[in-house]
Amino acid sequence: CGIVGYVGCEAALDVVIEGLERLEYRGYDSAGVTVLNGGGLATEKRAGKLANLKKTLTDFPLPTASVGIGHTRWATHGGPTDANAHPHLDDARRVAVVHNGIIENFAQLRAELAERGHTLRSETDTEVVAHLLGEAFTGDLAEAMRGVCRRLDGAFTLVAVHSDSPGVVVGARRNSPLVVGRGDGENFLASDVAAFIAHTRDAVELGQDQVVELRREGVTVTNFDGTPATVREYHVDWDASAAEKGGYDYFMLKEIAEQPKAVADTLLGRIGADGQLTLDELRISDAQLRQVDKVVIVACGTAFHAGMIAKYAIEHWTRIPCEVEVASEFRYRDPILDDRTLVIAISQSGETMDTLMALRHAREQGAKVLAICNTNGSTIPRESDAVLYTHAGPEVAVASTKAFLTQLVACYLVSLYLGQVRGTKWDRETFGVIELLGHAPHQVEQVLRTMEPVRELARSLADAHAVLFLGRHVGYPVALEGALKLKELAYMHAEGFAAGELKHGPIALIEHGLPVVIVVPSPRGRAVLHDKIVSNIQEIRARGARTIVIAEEGDEAVAPYADHLIRIPATPALLQPLVATVPLQVFACELATAKGHEVDQPRNLAKSVTVE
Ligand code: G6P
Repeated sequence: CGIVGYVGCEAALDVVIEGLERLEYRGYDSAGVTVLNGGGLATEKRAGKLANLKKTLTDFPLPTASVGIGHTRWATHGGPTDANAHPHLDDARRVAVVHNGIIENFAQLRAELAERGHTLRSETDTEVVAHLLGEAFTGDLAEAMRGVCRRLDGAFTLVAVHSDSPGVVVGARRNSPLVVGRGDGENFLASDVAAFIAHTRDAVELGQDQVVELRREGVTVTNFDGTPATVREYHVDWDASAAEKGGYDYFMLKEIAEQPKAVADTLLGRIGADGQLTLDELRISDAQLRQVDKVVIVACGTAFHAGMIAKYAIEHWTRIPCEVEVASEFRYRDPILDDRTLVIAISQSGETMDTLMALRHAREQGAKVLAICNTNGSTIPRESDAVLYTHAGPEVAVASTKAFLTQLVACYLVSLYLGQVRGTKWDRETFGVIELLGHAPHQVEQVLRTMEPVRELARSLADAHAVLFLGRHVGYPVALEGALKLKELAYMHAEGFAAGELKHGPIALIEHGLPVVIVVPSPRGRAVLHDKIVSNIQEIRARGARTIVIAEEGDEAVAPYADHLIRIPATPALLQPLVATVPLQVFACELATAKGHEVDQPRNLAKSVTVE
């Protein structure tokens, strides 16, 4: 899941290991390195965390070298064993290769290689590339790589070294991220800039189907057919400390605390003094937005929950029908799309393969795609017609927090902007909402200041075997997000339900002492909804549930039914998720920590899932 390559004058092993450490957040279950010096290749790889690999490298040091590649693997083909860890070598042990993605025609290639007498030692799809490169190499590794890539189906990032190509690292990219860092007398390759940010901020973005040859003195990029490629150079503007813990025990704690700033940064410059929105960077004209007759949102995981909330906002403020779907289901059910459909793809990383494939399918059907994304220059915004960036800064913890809040802000901005250009619901109510959206950073700050009782409650529940989450209206996706956080971090059975659905089945789960978190809508405005959820709380309490109620300040009607009451500031109904989600993040993080789990890198999960 993380790739690093280095050519320069420093000790390559140190640079590569440090880079892999900075990519640890992406999630992985084994790690390995190869270094190359005059004497040939030296490789070491181990299942488990980088610490295992580092221990082996201390006991059995590799020779000093100035060229190296490294990898952290999230298992796809074959379990997380030493043998399946990357780098993989060819029979002659002259080529070493690391890979992210999936090579779809690997079974056929493997059979061909076996027929030609190769011995394959792992269960991975990657190993076939090492053997193919070994066969194709006639002195120019980049040329061999281009030839091999033309034979591969699927999505991949590959990085390789060859013992007969001293001073050279070659990379290739199709549908999977790879960036170049340009230094002075040294150059870097990595799955993302975090790996080399401590060395250089000058980056080069590789396009689709390109091969890069890295030497100390420079970088050459070609297309798979060998023609010279045009690439985009850019400067990484976030400072290196943004990707460090800065005094917090975990990135997740730091990122939860950064939410007021992330929300403020995402609003910055987008609301005019006259209350009108300006989204100049959209690259999609107002005339086109006026044509839209349907909005379809695609996303995965936490971003999908942001999409669910956006549906309520879009339909209410614009009266345009809106569907929301997990990206992995979208293209396989033959969705109905045309040139008047606006597809919104929400993705923190901009690299999630399911979301990327959904947006490609949408564009093939003629729909316009707007990306809401946190990562400048990543694949999803590059392949979209328009983009609205969230400004959460780098999010390192696998479980998304600040990116989610900024996705919500971006969704509100897009919904309100659609309303503005189309003249729907553009009354005093809407202006009021825009002004109140501006208060969100302060309100999130307020919530964060009152979280100690939530942490205490979480610690007291460390032995609970399950937690349920209920909500209505936009509180329903918030309940789903609360449950997802607890699954991801505490490995507990956690489910979110629409509170109204409770009586149709889930109420059978209620038993004495079961903790149930309820997100209560504001009693102002939607009194009916509020009253219904108060009844739902009474129903579960009567059956023994321990009720943990998240309710607006001043909502006294619900207080008698709450075993634990968590207060959030009053907001317009649609904006409540911005404040209601925060206690659920804190709750999950603290409960997981109390259980002794590593919250930044939960087991089996990856930050950015670049396979389908
Ligand atoms: C992974 C992460 C989730 C994330 C999802 C979508 O599954 O573990 O936390 O919500 O991907 O990621 P994206 O980068 O597309 O927002």
